[in-house]
Amino acid sequence: MLIDTHCHLDAHYFAEGADAVLERAHGAGVAGFVCIGVGGVPAAEHAVGVAQRRGDVVATVGVHPHEASSFSASMLHTLEALSGDPKVVAVGEIGLDYHYDHSPRDVQRDVFAKMIAFARARRLPIVVHTREAAADTLEILEGEAARDVGGVIHCFSEDRAFAQRALDLGFDLSFSGVVTFKNAQSVHDVAAWAPADRILVETDAPYLAPHPLRGKRCEPAYVAYTARAVAALRGVPQGEVERLTTENACRRFGPPLAAAVGMVQNPS
Ligand code: NI
Repeated sequence: MLIDTHCHLDAHYFAEGADAVLERAHGAGVAGFVCIGVGGVPAAEHAVGVAQRRGDVVATVGVHPHEASSFSASMLHTLEALSGDPKVVAVGEIGLDYHYDHSPRDVQRDVFAKMIAFARARRLPIVVHTREAAADTLEILEGEAARDVGGVIHCFSEDRAFAQRALDLGFDLSFSGVVTFKNAQSVHDVAAWAPADRILVETDAPYLAPHPLRGKRCEPAYVAYTARAVAALRGVPQGEVERLTTENACRRFGPPLAAAVGMVQNPS
């Protein structure tokens, strides 16, 4: 059994609708899904709506660094209201993207800090997007006391030094299709080395389809390719990675996700 801890199910990505996509994923052994609600208020509402409608889905809400420029007080009010839904398990994805620079960097940093404050106020973990912004991401996570809520470094694409600092701050490392790419040496290294209780798997659908499907539209069914690659790098059976990452995801995202996949959580 697998959980896709990060997928985007917006209608403009999947014209056939989320239900058809998720049924294909079930056919591939994927039992639970964290649907990421970013891209403006309608996208956040869509993600929460899918989670309300389906027992196997939980949702996040947040402001992606790409859209930081469009952040407003009224958007924050709407996200606060949505975060009161019991199926909302995290704030995200939030962070910094200095590769595309779709929003000015100072605005990205400001909105990232505001989103961490929001998550701390709601006592929700955060899902972090970081691209070509490692130093600033760590500085803001540390400066804004993100360790109080912890969370996930999504689509982990950094190196072992970054991973260690993120782990020290209470963040789990989530591996995407990138770990299946032959040239992703530092990600292979981290996937092989990371503590067993701190690893997750995800697709980031519709982006980043794993090898050998690279370049296609990605969907949650493909998370099994990522689990297989992580298992090979760690020298363990795929089933062990499935078990570990499912337990870790349920610990990180809490009872709503554990209930979604029929797992009873041990109090710890
Ligand atoms: Ni994403």
